[in-house]
This record gives sequence, structure tokens and C-alpha cells, in this order.
Amino acid sequence: MSACRIVVLVSGGGTNLQALMDAAAGGFIPGRVVAVISNVPGAYALERARRAGIPAEVVDQRDFPSRAVFEAELLRRVEAHHPDVVALAGFMRILGSAFVTALRGRMLNIHPSLLPRFRGLHTHRRAIEAGAAEHGASVHFVTEELDGGPVILQAAVPVLPGDDERRLAARVLDKEHIIYPLAVRWLCQGRLEMIEDGAWLDGAPLERPLRLERLPEAEWAALARRR
Ligand code: GAR
Repeated sequence: MSACRIVVLVSGGGTNLQALMDAAAGGFIPGRVVAVISNVPGAYALERARRAGIPAEVVDQRDFPSRAVFEAELLRRVEAHHPDVVALAGFMRILGSAFVTALRGRMLNIHPSLLPRFRGLHTHRRAIEAGAAEHGASVHFVTEELDGGPVILQAAVPVLPGDDERRLAARVLDKEHIIYPLAVRWLCQGRLEMIEDGAWLDGAPLERPLRLERLPEAEWAALARRR
């Protein structure tokens, strides 16, 4: 099988993009990031891509007369790279039905909460305010429902006494950098699929999201071998 082609969509700092680029460069992900596209012109993630020698593009919604026209152009630019995987990595725009449908089963998102808790924004603040004992991150297939597609893999962190949004976010982000490359690896390996509305791994449906903490030994061994 030829190397898996990954397009990453970003809006911000790009630490998840960095984790994906590093995982591909080190061979943990059997593929390569072929393009990075941002809807925000000054996003630092673009600089990270350029430093890695990866084409970095901007599709700014403000340059388009409507959301539909913007998304049609974004889709055209994504498809031009013939991606096997499209990874939303801090991409802060809600995507409409035509875009999502065209990339169904190929598009993943990382979300900073233990879905289905805290869909949407300000997840860390909301977890603290809700008095949650644990919080975390989820990787899921993207469907039309915002942060509502089938969840593949999660990692949890405790909410500690005295936590503020920033400290909790940093702890969650460390976990994001582990679970996102792992899920992209599975998709690139052909082990992960979306069938109807469910996530399947190794030919079996996931009855519930996998938890990093409880993954089998072989997955931990692969993580330990990462360069
Ligand atoms: C990450 O925490 C990611 O989970 C979140 O934005 C951050 C991006 O950080 N995504 C969302 O909230 C999507 N709804 P990064 O640019 O450093 O990867």
C-alpha cells in the first residue's frame, strides 16, 4: 500500500499538527502530512508546516461571499491533495453537510473533552465549573453533528483541586498529542473504519470509545517505540 496521505486543517497554534508531523516523520504513522490548510492567515501552525517543508495554504472565509462558497473552495483545495485522511487539528469552524459528506470516513477531529460531555467551546472551564472529577480528550470521526460523530479513542486526566483552565488545558493537550497520532496511525493502517454510524477497529465495532489507559499491551509497545 502506498503511504497514507494526510491533510491537516488548522486555525491556531498547531501543537496537534506538530504531533502528527512528528509521528509521520518518525514512522509511527505510516504516511505523511502532504498539506496543511488554515482558515486563519496568521496561524502559527502554518509556520510549523513551513519549517517541516510541508505546503501551507490559507483559505480565509472572509474572502468568500458565503459559507457554502468558502466550503466548496476548501473542499476543492483539500481534495487536490488526494488525502486518505483529513485531520482537523484545532480547526475552529463548523463544517457543513456537503463538506462532511464528501470526506465521510476519512475525516477525524480531536476535541478537548470526554465526549459526549462538553461539546462545543470552553470545555476546560465548563469541566471545572461542573465539578467534574475527570476530564480529557476524544478523537472521533466527523459527521454532520457538531462534536457528535463516533468516538474512537479517549484519554482522561484528573481535575485537581485548584486547577484553573490553563493548567487543566495543558494536561489535556499532553494526552491529545498521544491519542491523535495513534488514531491517525490506525486509520492509515486500514485498521480503523467508519461503517454506517459507528467506528470499527480491526473488523469489530467499538461498543464504546477506547480509553488510552486501557489499551492492549501491543499498542503501548508501539507507543514506547516511537522516535
Ligand atoms: C486543542 O486543544 C484541540 O483539541 C482544540 O483546539 C486545540 C488546538 O490546539 N480543538 C477544538 O476545540 C475543536 N472544537 P493546537 O492548535 O495546539 O493543536
